Amino acid sequence: MLQRPRRLRKNAIVREMVAETKLSKDMFIYPYFVVNGKNVVHPIAAMPGINHYSVDELLKDVEKGLKSGINKIILFGVGESKTEDASSSFSDNAIVVKAVRALKEKFGEQLYVITDICVCAYTTHGHCGIIHNEYVHNDDSVKVLAQMALAHAQAGVDMVAPSDMMDGRILAMRELLDKNGFENTAIMSYSIKYASAYYGPFREAADSAPQKGDRKSYQMDFRNGNESLTEGLLDEAEGADVLMVKPALAYMDVIFNLRKNTLLPIACYNVSGEYSMVKAAAANGWIDEQKIVMENMYAFARAGANLIITYHTKDILERDWI
Ligand code: PBG
Ligand code: ZN
Repeated sequence: MLQRPRRLRKNAIVREMVAETKLSKDMFIYPYFVVNGKNVVHPIAAMPGINHYSVDELLKDVEKGLKSGINKIILFGVGESKTEDASSSFSDNAIVVKAVRALKEKFGEQLYVITDICVCAYTTHGHCGIIHNEYVHNDDSVKVLAQMALAHAQAGVDMVAPSDMMDGRILAMRELLDKNGFENTAIMSYSIKYASAYYGPFREAADSAPQKGDRKSYQMDFRNGNESLTEGLLDEAEGADVLMVKPALAYMDVIFNLRKNTLLPIACYNVSGEYSMVKAAAANGWIDEQKIVMENMYAFARAGANLIITYHTKDILERDWI
């Protein structure tokens, strides 16, 4: 027999030698939910190990994480006052703005801070934009989202990550940031974001579920694969620095296809529902948590993801799972 692929699987050394996919600690981004108050570390029931943090506690937790190399985080603000016009989203007093300032003051360039840009946690109706006549109005929403990005940039954020799925928001944000002297603030676009039931636990954590209807008039239809390239390439043309695919587990074909069609770094978001499923099965003793988590992470990298946003980051880095 000429071909015996098993030859290169004979022992651990040779398997390591020919392993096509490697993971590094630098690939992982850890999400945090920030709330007002002091001394708050409040567990999120459906996401074991994930908490709401007040800024003082966030600083302590980040300091601890930095010791194991958790030096890239993405922030979500929770509990802000909700209005029709989402004005609390770009307020100088917004909890995310305060958190960014405090983090940058304490950790400077040691920590790379990313913020989620979306208004669903700041609107009375819980949609990701401004509503006119029962429709999420694209261009008016874009204006607010760009203001939110600018407020975060002024607080010192390194990268903004718009997750709203309005058309044209990347260009609007890029222009507003540049006009105000923030040409070095990067944009990671949630370019390819599907309307997904996998966001369930997050919406409880962020108190951002739509009061009425769903997000299908702006997030993508999960039956569509080709359309993901339209979205990704548009954002690239509008000036995005990093493209993201979300969710991750059920969408690896999308990551793979995007990898073939862009030279930009690709991030994937291993979302709340994906995390909760693994945690629940592990808590029941039905799966081996470490093995399942790492199999998923290698699969994301194999599909073509350069960056992985995951709630498992702490376990992976602190417990040396790589
Ligand atoms: C806000 C936003 C959502 C997530 C990230 N940013 C929820 C949504 O779009 O409904 C989901 C993250 C997760 O499930 O972990 N637009
Ligand atoms: Zn939203």
